[in-house]
Amino acid sequence: MKTILITGGAGFIGSHVVRLFVNKYPDYKIVNLDKLTYAGNLANLKDIEKKQNYEFVKGDIVDKDFIDKLFEKYKFDGIIHLAAESHVDRSITNPTEFIFTNIVGTINLLNASKNSWKDNFENKRFYHISTDEVYGSLGKTGHFVETTAYDPRSPYSASKACSDHLTRAYFHTYKLPVVISNCSNNYGPYQFPEKLIPLAFNNIKNNKPVPIYGKGENIRDWLYVEDHANAIDIIYHKGINGETYNIGGNNEQTNLNLIKKLCEIMDLKLKRSKGTSGKLITFVKDRAGHDLRYAIDSTKIQKKLKWKPLVKFEKGLEKTVDWYLENEAWLKNVTSGSYQNYYKQQYLKR
Ligand code: NAD
Ligand code: DAU
Repeated sequence: MKTILITGGAGFIGSHVVRLFVNKYPDYKIVNLDKLTYAGNLANLKDIEKKQNYEFVKGDIVDKDFIDKLFEKYKFDGIIHLAAESHVDRSITNPTEFIFTNIVGTINLLNASKNSWKDNFENKRFYHISTDEVYGSLGKTGHFVETTAYDPRSPYSASKACSDHLTRAYFHTYKLPVVISNCSNNYGPYQFPEKLIPLAFNNIKNNKPVPIYGKGENIRDWLYVEDHANAIDIIYHKGINGETYNIGGNNEQTNLNLIKKLCEIMDLKLKRSKGTSGKLITFVKDRAGHDLRYAIDSTKIQKKLKWKPLVKFEKGLEKTVDWYLENEAWLKNVTSGSYQNYYKQQYLKR
């Protein structure tokens, strides 16, 4: 039986990866390590929490002694590292936390893997999950490929870029068997409502203004979260050590178009007359240093590992809306308490 550590498994993407691995690989023991920050939520994993091959450990990847002891205890065969501070806006108001978790946390995991495997790396794997934001911002044309030079422009993306570089450095210096993937914007169930789609959903539902930064012209490449989890499964099992794989939805949307589509779906689902939700769209002060456009070229993973996105955007968006409508209690729970303060600070002065 292999023992695999998934960090950040109580977060948005991590919970989908944990669910996939626990259900698909009964002969793996999946250990989910998560600090349960504001973004981590064990309710995301209610359906699998009692499975025999699943264990949750609460802990902080920044705490080196704790991490070393965890690796001594479990003797992991593989690590899928998702734990991170992940929200660009929070990195603008409080960058330091991003340095601790995203950089110090990653090096603690790299060191613990190297030490625990005692330089015998056969059948071992360290998989670092990263983002397309490390490549910077595109103009109107072009795509990010795996060899695009890094050009991070927010504290979040700079911290992720640093952790990518460290991971790659451990491959070149120590031959640690690492693999990295850089993915575009994910959407789907269990996403915390600080990110555009669930935040807009929540506001539309409650008849509150939907804040669009700047003119809404910024472009993101959206991928349904289960498609990302499937790519992670394939890369973990079939990726080549030392390689990077770009993952994307081939689905570029301006923020304004995306929110208009969401409003149309919400009008139908909430039985509002056409155009009602769209009236909530409100243009607000732009994000500082707002990257204009991200677009991923995922030819490499499609050709070499035979992955492709399966969920069409319109279908995925509708599935997402249905999930949030059916999981009102989940949304209520995460938007009470500290979320209210976050929202006030982030939006009321915009
Ligand atoms: P998230 O914010 O929803 O979840 C992050 C999880 O990490 C939370 O459960 C949190 O409690 C945990 N965590 C934070 N700090 C920790 C610490 N110090 N120790 C242990 N656990 C800690 O993030 P997400 O959107 O699911 O993103 C997961 C990963 O995927 C991140 O590495 C992110 O950079 C990357 N990524 C995200 C996207 C996206 O669109 N969301 C796209 C590409 C890559
Ligand atoms: O590209 C991958 C990245 O996607 C991940 O690495 C990050 O972890 C993830 O948070 C996401 O980053 P973005 O900054 O692109 O996502 P966010 O949902 O915060 O914003 C999407 C776009 O919408 C962006 O152009 C900013 C804009 N926006 C966002 C919010 C929260 C608004 O216009 N209004 C908002 O209220």
